[in-house]
Amino acid sequence: MSTAIQDSIIADIKLAPEGQLKIDWVAQHMPLLNEIKADFERTQPFKGKRVIICLHLEAKTAYLALAVQAGGAEVAVCASNVLSTQDDVVAALVKNGVTAYAIHGCSEAEYHQHINKALDFDPDLIIDDGGDLVSTLHSDPKRADQLKKIIGGCEETTTGILRLKSLDAEGKLSFPMIAVNDAFCKYLFDNRYGTGQSVWDGIMRTTNLVVSGKTAVVVGYGWCGKGVAMRAKGLGARVIVTEIDPIKAVEAIMDGHEVMPIAEAAKHGDFFVTVTGNKDVIGKEALANIKDGAILSNAGHFDVEISKPALHELSNGNVRTVRKNIEEFTYTDGRRVFLLGDGRLVNLAAGDGHPAEVMDMTFALQALGLRHVMEQGASLENHVYSVPAEIDSYVANLRLKTWNVGIDKLSEEQERYLNAWAE
Ligand SMILES: NC(=O)c1ccc[n+]([C@@H]2O[C@H](COP(=O)([O-])OP(=O)(O)OC[C@H]3O[C@@H](n4cnc5c(N)ncnc54)[C@H](O)[C@@H]3O)[C@@H](O)[C@H]2O)c1
Repeated sequence: MSTAIQDSIIADIKLAPEGQLKIDWVAQHMPLLNEIKADFERTQPFKGKRVIICLHLEAKTAYLALAVQAGGAEVAVCASNVLSTQDDVVAALVKNGVTAYAIHGCSEAEYHQHINKALDFDPDLIIDDGGDLVSTLHSDPKRADQLKKIIGGCEETTTGILRLKSLDAEGKLSFPMIAVNDAFCKYLFDNRYGTGQSVWDGIMRTTNLVVSGKTAVVVGYGWCGKGVAMRAKGLGARVIVTEIDPIKAVEAIMDGHEVMPIAEAAKHGDFFVTVTGNKDVIGKEALANIKDGAILSNAGHFDVEISKPALHELSNGNVRTVRKNIEEFTYTDGRRVFLLGDGRLVNLAAGDGHPAEVMDMTFALQALGLRHVMEQGASLENHVYSVPAEIDSYVANLRLKTWNVGIDKLSEEQERYLNAWAE
């Protein structure tokens, strides 16, 4: 038996054929990663290195893991959320020689156990999503020696980068990390179009209800929120945005949405989507105001955006599962409120995540970012770095090439004109 099969903690290796089909499907729609994987096979940038990938373990992530493995690495994966793991995909990864520690729907304690098992794999490089891997590494004194060995890594999302930056500001970050989320080719497309589409896909397939003619409340008008609001409008909903930032609120109004405080929006919404990276953004006051039959979902990284304790309090524990991924809370006054996917990322807990073509760009940045850390690690300090501009524009150019779309080049005259101050 291979060591990956022996060492892994997964639901069932027999699910592998189904998972392999899912990986094969996305691979057909990820031309950038195909090209990078072929290049990695030739150049072996990670030869002899150990890499841990802590991400949502579905098919696109699996293909990223296989691309890194093709570059000569030994790879282990663990989940970045207890509900986003697809057991068949994880089984297929293990069959491909990747060690995996992840089971869909495991407990929080098991989730942390899996992260620790992955860290015992003793990585040289890491890919993190939300910061749990990095935070476990930095807070456990028995991992102090390991910290010195790690060359560096990449972080996927807004929330993880906030956590990394606060670790960096305290002078405690022990290796360089690349903030993949902050690349143009990430947040402009993944956060906006990826989250925008997949959140409504998750809500619609879970509820089987119509969006058109209803009121959708989007809490937070950052890159993800803009996409979620744009797609809600396209589906025919009336869109209300809630914000704490006056500039984002003005932007939402100019984009054609209504803006109001959450306590007021609570009375109007049929669907709610939180996407702030902040806690209790639908807190007890808003939940007390909420309209009968409201459907609540979260797309922010952690399940803290909708106050689950307040929901339990208002319903006095009167909760039941009424459909896969839908819990019904019946308030003491008889109102019913529905929570999707346990308040975890609805597009992943109750869907397949972003479309493959979108994740192709994000994971191209991850793969090239990791190679950059591998090559430049010794010259980087222990800080959070942006994705180098050359990598960002390389990914955009590759995307255009795979679409067979050409763009213009500056003429010498134009370049001179743009750089002159006296003309
Ligand atoms: N579901 C997914 O697949 C997915 C994809 C990318 C990012 N994310 C996560 O989504 C979250 C948001 O990411 P982003 O890139 O849009 O971040 P962002 O920083 O661009 O936007 C967050 C917005 O929320 C607003 N906000 C903060 N507190 C608020 C409150 N109490 N009420 C209303 N608005 C509030 C901020 O002003 C900001 O405009 C993060 O947790 C990120 O990690 C999820």
